[in-house]
Amino acid sequence: MRIKRFFPIAILLLMAHSSLSLAAEKFEPNYDESKVPEYTLPDPLVLSNGEKVTDAKTWKEVRRPEILNLFAEEVYGKTPEAPDLLRYQVIETSDEALDGKAIRKQVRIFFTQDKAEPKMDLLVYLPKESENPVPLMIGLNFYGNHTIHSDPAIILSDSWMRKNEDKGIVDNRATEDSRGASADRWAVDMILDRGYGLATAYYGDIDPDFDDGFQNGIQPLFYKEGQNKPAPDEWGSIGAWAYGLSRAMDYFEQDEDINENQVAVMGHSRLGKTSLWAGARDERFAIVISNDSGCGGAALSRRRFGETVARINNVFPHWFCDNFNKYNDNESALPVDQHMLIALIAPRPAYVASAVDDRWADPKGEFLSVVHAEPVYQLLGEPGFGATEIPEVDHPIMDTLGYHIRTGGHNVTDFDWKAYLDFADKHFGR
Ligand code: GCU
Repeated sequence: MRIKRFFPIAILLLMAHSSLSLAAEKFEPNYDESKVPEYTLPDPLVLSNGEKVTDAKTWKEVRRPEILNLFAEEVYGKTPEAPDLLRYQVIETSDEALDGKAIRKQVRIFFTQDKAEPKMDLLVYLPKESENPVPLMIGLNFYGNHTIHSDPAIILSDSWMRKNEDKGIVDNRATEDSRGASADRWAVDMILDRGYGLATAYYGDIDPDFDDGFQNGIQPLFYKEGQNKPAPDEWGSIGAWAYGLSRAMDYFEQDEDINENQVAVMGHSRLGKTSLWAGARDERFAIVISNDSGCGGAALSRRRFGETVARINNVFPHWFCDNFNKYNDNESALPVDQHMLIALIAPRPAYVASAVDDRWADPKGEFLSVVHAEPVYQLLGEPGFGATEIPEVDHPIMDTLGYHIRTGGHNVTDFDWKAYLDFADKHFGR
């Protein structure tokens, strides 16, 4: 009897599992604009009770918290409160970094008052010639701080890394070959020459980027008694990475060489999704920048162009909260869309960047998010940016909102950094 009952269930489970991976394998992205379904976006300026938002006070006190909560409960998951006190340790500093051009600081940030692990190592370069305190760009990196520059003094990360031979990763660990392996994505000299500091941390220090049921990373530090994974409305990895960015911000508030009122948060791809969510939640970030962030970032989910909600949840089940699965092939049921994520940043400046060949991330959908966030900026007395058509390739547009689509593919280039620095100069009055 037992065996009879067991078999059909096992077979069913097996079938369900293989059809899932089959769905992931067989996914065919739509790249045909004429096949984008018709959709109606939720209106950021209509309350959930149907009333219109017509003044800044109602936006700030009612609608903004409502939208923030919807993103927390349905998309990225709720995040723990900030700690009362940040525990950190300055591990290394130099006033003669990068041929004497920069000050370097390496700061270890802890996530609790007592535990040593997990820890996040923050690398900070500040321009030596500028008057302090300086404005700063912060972005998480994919393969360790030592990959952003060949500076031999950068501590080589000993954290778990995703496989990548090109980045010198052997057995999921960085090696000396990893040094400077991502330098082409980090315009360190340009940033310093323009008078900005740069801070970065390895995202895997906060939560390693693989699905282990949330046993590693910072989530377990916050489990209630008896809890062993986040609830369906609690944070996934993107939520954790964003939380890590906020802890870096806690540190900037304590460092007298950094102007904590002029910190721009920037991220690429999955880390662009992260910078948007970090900037939406944490209003201390003065400027928020998304580089090729795509699905679950700046791109409108309802367009289903390139990567879709179902596909991202199937392939990266740990990035969002479990509730986000409700919207797999069911985007119209979402109480939000990604233009509302940009709207949460208002009235602070936000910049979205796309690349022509990065169709997977849906450049047009990224642009439209900015367009549809604009009414919130206008309500708050900011001009937005006035564009209704995607601009010419390689021609950034910048007002309070900024956007460009550049030549090339999914990457971060000097063109991107130059635009972000121009945008920051404009808003920081430099
Ligand atoms: C995959 C994923 C994207 C993500 C990208 C990245 O392509 O589908 O959503 O942005 O990885 O982070 O590099």
